[in-house]
Amino acid sequence: MAILLTGGAGFIGSHTAVCLMQAGYDVVLADNFSNSSPKVVGRIAEITGKTPVCVEADVCDKEAVRNIFRAHDISAVVHFAGLKAVGESVQKPLEYYRNNLDSALTVLEVMREFGCRQFVFSSSATVYGDQPAPLNESAPTGGCSNPYGWTKFMIEKILIDAARADETLSVVLLRYFNPIGAHESGRIGEDPQGIPNNLMPYITQVASGRREKLTVFGNDYPTPDGTGVRDYIHVCDLAEGHRCALEYAAAHTGCEVFNLGTGHGYSVLDMVHTFTRVNGVDVPYVIGPRRAGDLATVYAACDKAKEVLGWQAQRDLEAMCRDSWNWQKKNPMGYDA
Ligand code: WQD
Repeated sequence: MAILLTGGAGFIGSHTAVCLMQAGYDVVLADNFSNSSPKVVGRIAEITGKTPVCVEADVCDKEAVRNIFRAHDISAVVHFAGLKAVGESVQKPLEYYRNNLDSALTVLEVMREFGCRQFVFSSSATVYGDQPAPLNESAPTGGCSNPYGWTKFMIEKILIDAARADETLSVVLLRYFNPIGAHESGRIGEDPQGIPNNLMPYITQVASGRREKLTVFGNDYPTPDGTGVRDYIHVCDLAEGHRCALEYAAAHTGCEVFNLGTGHGYSVLDMVHTFTRVNGVDVPYVIGPRRAGDLATVYAACDKAKEVLGWQAQRDLEAMCRDSWNWQKKNPMGYDA
């Protein structure tokens, strides 16, 4: 029996692969490497002592997905695969709706053909739209501010309806807040292509000298220091959350949703100052205008995951800053050294 990780060579997928392998699971990675590197397979092998099966495949290709199920006894799927750049989704909405919805539907249809009934979905806090924090799972969803968020919202709806129609299906929706950090080895980490959209990879590239300075997108928000507040979660804590979700899916049917966050909000300047203090490296920054679509404050209520999954984030902001920098120092150009 193996767990199929679609998009398994990506930032969260690779960390989840390490976590599951170290917990004794066999994993199969499926990835088209459109936003990841095949080199991550060797890095996972270095960390775990075992090379995961990795299939280069676009999971929108139904026959390719069938071939994975024909070759491996897949007991559950964790679906990471999808386009995920918020700004790009505004520029290319058709590509985002086609790719993200098509891949999810294709995987679900092939799962049904092969009698696989456990599905963990990589969703996002973006589905909450602009609502007061802390956000809990019973908060209404929708009101997304970009096509990327709408694809996550729509796939959640597909999964809720699929689980309602098929009582043997087990679906877990994981709403991530802001994943950052890296495995303590520094051998796997976040490797965005081009100019980073997200805060932490931009900070680490400034700290390494690859970029001149950070632009803080606005300091006039209604927050303690005026800069945006987010719930940052260590990617290894997030990976553990997926292991707990798989255990839950194996023991239950129906559709259940969980926030994966820490319940704490930190501002952009909190992050910059913590990063500098922990790592002893400067991060030059300037204050710029707000970024369109940004919210002031987003952080999770995450009691449900603790009570139902027995999961809680363990790593603090200092560990996130330390591990992000450790990865970037050891891999100044990411996987493409
Ligand atoms: C965090 C804070 C910015 C960059 C996005 C997606 C979300 C999820 C996580 C997938 C904000 C500020 C950022 C910079 C800055 N991804 N910032 N300068 O926007 O909260 O969430 O990534 O699920 O869906 O929306 O994350 O890291 O882009 O921004 O000042 O160069 O850092 O304004 O306050 P965000 P982020």
